[in-house]
Amino acid sequence: MKARVLSGMRPTGALHLGHYHGALKNWVRLQAQYECFFFVADWHALTTHYEEREVIGNNVYEMVIDWIAAGLDPEQCTIFIQSRLPEHAELFTLLAMGTPLGWLERVPTYKDQMEKLKDRDLATYGFLGYPLLQAADILIYKASFVPVGEDQSSHVELTREVARRFNHLYGRGAKFEAQTAAAIAKLSKDDARYLERQRKAFGETGAAEALAKGEAILARAAASIAGWTDADSELLHGHLRGAGRTVLVEPQALHTEVATLPGLDGRKMSKSYGNAILMRDTPEEVTKKVRGMMTDPARVHRSDPGNPEKCPVWDFHKVYSDEATRDWVWKGCTTAGIGCLECKQPVIDAIITQQQPWRERTEQYLANPKQVHWIVEMGTERARTVARQTMKDVRDAIGLNY
Ligand code: TRP
Ligand code: SF4
Repeated sequence: MKARVLSGMRPTGALHLGHYHGALKNWVRLQAQYECFFFVADWHALTTHYEEREVIGNNVYEMVIDWIAAGLDPEQCTIFIQSRLPEHAELFTLLAMGTPLGWLERVPTYKDQMEKLKDRDLATYGFLGYPLLQAADILIYKASFVPVGEDQSSHVELTREVARRFNHLYGRGAKFEAQTAAAIAKLSKDDARYLERQRKAFGETGAAEALAKGEAILARAAASIAGWTDADSELLHGHLRGAGRTVLVEPQALHTEVATLPGLDGRKMSKSYGNAILMRDTPEEVTKKVRGMMTDPARVHRSDPGNPEKCPVWDFHKVYSDEATRDWVWKGCTTAGIGCLECKQPVIDAIITQQQPWRERTEQYLANPKQVHWIVEMGTERARTVARQTMKDVRDAIGLNY
């Protein structure tokens, strides 16, 4: 079985090349390797843009079209909308009960974003709680991997802590104790006693050796005892470590080093800075934008040599050009052998070429909105099956099954 990957994106407007190179390109690659779930994080958008309801609504399907245009294949991955699955909210609520306020206040993005988005009133309960909502998004699918940018690492770390705490608080229960006892009873008397000794030693001293010895017993049991199940192994591995049953799975962040593409003015590419090249920009728009793009500020005249390291166009060459072109840029720039417009042309051509299949797919889906709705519908139902099962486990673990 393939490991599961989950990621989400806020529907805050037309996607730009920064989204593509920073996230989407990676998602497209991952869908072949993993069981991937990708969702429109519309509730997350509301945590900061709660006053802009129509805007979010308009962006939802547009963003899904951009995803598919970029190469997400609805046959390979599951695409859905967060708010269509109230199970996310239910898990969020249940996790909220035991999550210390300090854990949320300490998340670095909390203070950063408050600073950055000064024009919005973010002294809200929803904004403080949003990394916990993200934790619920991840945990409800028992995802093993979460592709996110470095800026979101702390959210995945919080998710891990929340899962650990949940398993510790609720992963026990009478049924769990009985199942553990039943699994131990399958071992020989000697092995059972030996396992208990290693468990004690590990609990008291944290000795890795004790853990390894205990695990060796379990590996042998799995290989030799008739009627031994994977569930038995899982239970006793947890027992050995002194943990509860794993109800919620701790995910790992998946960081792939991505070349970050700056915006037209050299700052981070962002819609709010007005410095973005959109995935859907026409060839004319791309040409105009790149031709107007900032260059090394020291290169005032055509005859002044420049330094590519100080020029955002060079970052585009790093992403879009082959080695021969980059050599040509480097030599031409540092010797004033080429002009900036000349230097930009291969970038313009490469972007336009890259956009060609995006454009074709976008046109097809824009002309056929029902097809997009259908894709999301299918994805939502697939996601629901998984989310429902997790919520059943979660309610059982907490004892909410009356
Ligand atoms: N918080 C993410 C962002 O702002 C979006 C997001 C929401 C997400 N839930 C998630 C990403 C779960 C990964 C996993 O970009
Ligand atoms: Fe930038 Fe190219 Fe001009 Fe050099 S020649 S400053 S790399 S645009």
